[in-house]
Amino acid sequence: MENTLPGKKPEEIRRMFNRISHRYDLLNHLLSGGMDFFWRKRLVSLVKPFHPNAILDVATGTGDLAIALTRIKPQKIIGTDIAENMLSLAHIKIYRKKLQHIIELKYCHAEALPFPDAAFDATTVAFGARNFGDIEKGLSEMLRVLKPGGGAWILEFSKPSKGIFSRIYRFYFKHVLPWLGGWISGENKAYRYLPESVDIFPEGAAMLALLEKVGYTDLSSLRLSGGMVTIYSGQKK
Ligand SMILES: C[S@@+](CC[C@H](N)C(=O)[O-])C[C@H]1O[C@@H](n2cnc3c(N)ncnc32)[C@H](O)[C@@H]1O
Repeated sequence: MENTLPGKKPEEIRRMFNRISHRYDLLNHLLSGGMDFFWRKRLVSLVKPFHPNAILDVATGTGDLAIALTRIKPQKIIGTDIAENMLSLAHIKIYRKKLQHIIELKYCHAEALPFPDAAFDATTVAFGARNFGDIEKGLSEMLRVLKPGGGAWILEFSKPSKGIFSRIYRFYFKHVLPWLGGWISGENKAYRYLPESVDIFPEGAAMLALLEKVGYTDLSSLRLSGGMVTIYSGQKK
């Protein structure tokens, strides 16, 4: 399996997200028709029964998942990312919402997390794993920092598989979204990269096999919105 995005190095990814950061939230909400809120909320509802005290949100970007996770009242959430501009926007939102006592932000690569083993009860990543330079390494770092009994939740785009909806969605995702995203952000490449990266990202059984290979147990996946996104989860023994 190919675990590295062809032609996309972490430095390019970092620069790309830095450049689109000022339009990232607007485009996220607009291009998903506001469904991104619902998808993150769904992930939070899956984490809730585990009552985690310490959560690591990898590739936190502008912090929407970290902020949504405060609803389940953990003691600490650390959000990490490699794009400084995304983290600056997260910082502003966290201060505005007065959540700075719960959420801490850290600049670091998912593939080399600067945390000791077994430091967190839960790890999460929303729309970030697809961008990792080395997906397997990123997932394995998320496992390393988990306490035994802890869980990881990965929210990522997937592809609706059947019927007319799938065809319409594919047209939207491959043609309309890159055009609209490129026009509003001024970054054509970034929004062409989105469908390309979803195409090569391991999905469904392939993603579960990767999680198993990395060492996660009790695997599950939940397709949402007709398969537009999937939440994968696995635990640490
Ligand atoms: C599509 S955004 C998702 C942000 C946020 N999680 C959300 O739900 O909106 C992807 C984020 O992953 C970050 N990223 C990409 N590669 C990374 C890596 N190797 N380590 C950490 N963060 C990374 C990018 O900088 C970007 O902020």
